[in-house]
Amino acid sequence: MITGQGSTELAIEAIKQGAVDYIEKPLNTERLNKLKAQIPKLLDQFALLEKNRELTARLEGLTHYGELTGQSEAMRSVYQVIDAVSNSNASVLILGESGTGKELVARAIHQKSERARGPFFALNCAALPKEILENELFGHEKGAFTGSTNEKPGAFEMASGGTLFLDEVAEMATDIQVKLLRALESRMVRRLGGKKEIPVDIRVVAATNRDLQKALSEGELREDLYYRLAVVEIYLPPLRERADDIQLLAKEFLAHYASQNGKNVTGFADDAWDWILSFSWPGNVRELKNALQRGVIMSRGEKIGLSDMVQRHLRQAPESTALTIPVGQTTVAHARRQLILKTFASADGDIVRTGKLAGVSVDDVRREILALLETGGSNNGGPSADTEARITRKSDGGAPARPAAKS
Ligand SMILES: Nc1ncnc2c1ncn2[C@@H]1O[C@H](COP(=O)(O)OP(=O)(O)OP(=O)(O)O)[C@@H](O)[C@H]1O
Ligand SMILES: [Mg+2]
Repeated sequence: MITGQGSTELAIEAIKQGAVDYIEKPLNTERLNKLKAQIPKLLDQFALLEKNRELTARLEGLTHYGELTGQSEAMRSVYQVIDAVSNSNASVLILGESGTGKELVARAIHQKSERARGPFFALNCAALPKEILENELFGHEKGAFTGSTNEKPGAFEMASGGTLFLDEVAEMATDIQVKLLRALESRMVRRLGGKKEIPVDIRVVAATNRDLQKALSEGELREDLYYRLAVVEIYLPPLRERADDIQLLAKEFLAHYASQNGKNVTGFADDAWDWILSFSWPGNVRELKNALQRGVIMSRGEKIGLSDMVQRHLRQAPESTALTIPVGQTTVAHARRQLILKTFASADGDIVRTGKLAGVSVDDVRREILALLETGGSNNGGPSADTEARITRKSDGGAPARPAAKS
């Protein structure tokens, strides 16, 4: 904005409205030059903004990207980040629980980049003992150690021209982390037992399912390496937080395994579908995929039943401390009762502890349990007959109920 009636208020207002700078008349050479100097940078910024807008529009509504399936907001923003970073050389760190698709994201970054014609070289840093990992990363010269009769290029050299994927990077021994950082910064590697520095042209993508803050504060992942790897960070949320994706993925896996196994399975029985939507999927997409593979193989009709997918003893175990509250079919009173009873069961029948954990009074806990006993224990998620005996004792006025000592 150029003005002849300058005031601080006006300047602030102009910048708020989107002006980049504020220049007062008269336009002398010094001011004009300052203006001119800004123009190229501003044009670049504008082009970037436009490109982002265009990308956002193009990626909205997507249900697939590369080998990834997902239509949740979270996955769509992952697609956007992949799209934006793939053509840069920036290092990317992918975070997320096991089975959330970190490797697929790494592959997508490679495939969408100009390096797609080069190699995608993946190395799992947790799977190998320290010495072997070092050898895999940097390679060795002939005679570098006893038994090394051949020279061997390492992952850095093998991935040159393409993408190096370092999986489970936080598990790497710290002295190798130092060497890795050096190689990343200099873009040069020296093989074990070698003298010459070999230039490498790589893009590094790394992944970890560890809690980063913890790995950093406990010194397992060096901070300098972290900053070098995480120029861009991509976080994949757990599947249980992506209800839209569960539905889409389940249907696709069903179709995939049905055709792979030549079976005419086309849908889910109600119990199976309810379970898929309410289960917490601690193993994320990998677990869902495996459950559906098993479901298709075991099914005998056109629909997968719950028992086809899940063995009985596994059905509740991972969820034993979780509550399922079907919205639209549950009253607050019912949900409250379920919570108290489930807490009671997981507190080993300790009424006082249950009250504390669930944030209700001991009397409230007792009332819910007595109500349960009156209904004959038909309320699911409730305590067993064994706890029933203990409650009765408690309501007789004895000491707080305690479970029998565990053997
Ligand atoms: N969004 C997705 N769409 C389709 N398949 C997926 C998706 N996410 C994960 N998968 C599948 O789930 C399995 C696990 O994915 P992947 O190996 O990428 O997970 P990860 O995050 O690397 O797990 P880990 O930390 O255990 O190595 C693979 O078979 C993969 O194909
Ligand atoms: Mg992985």
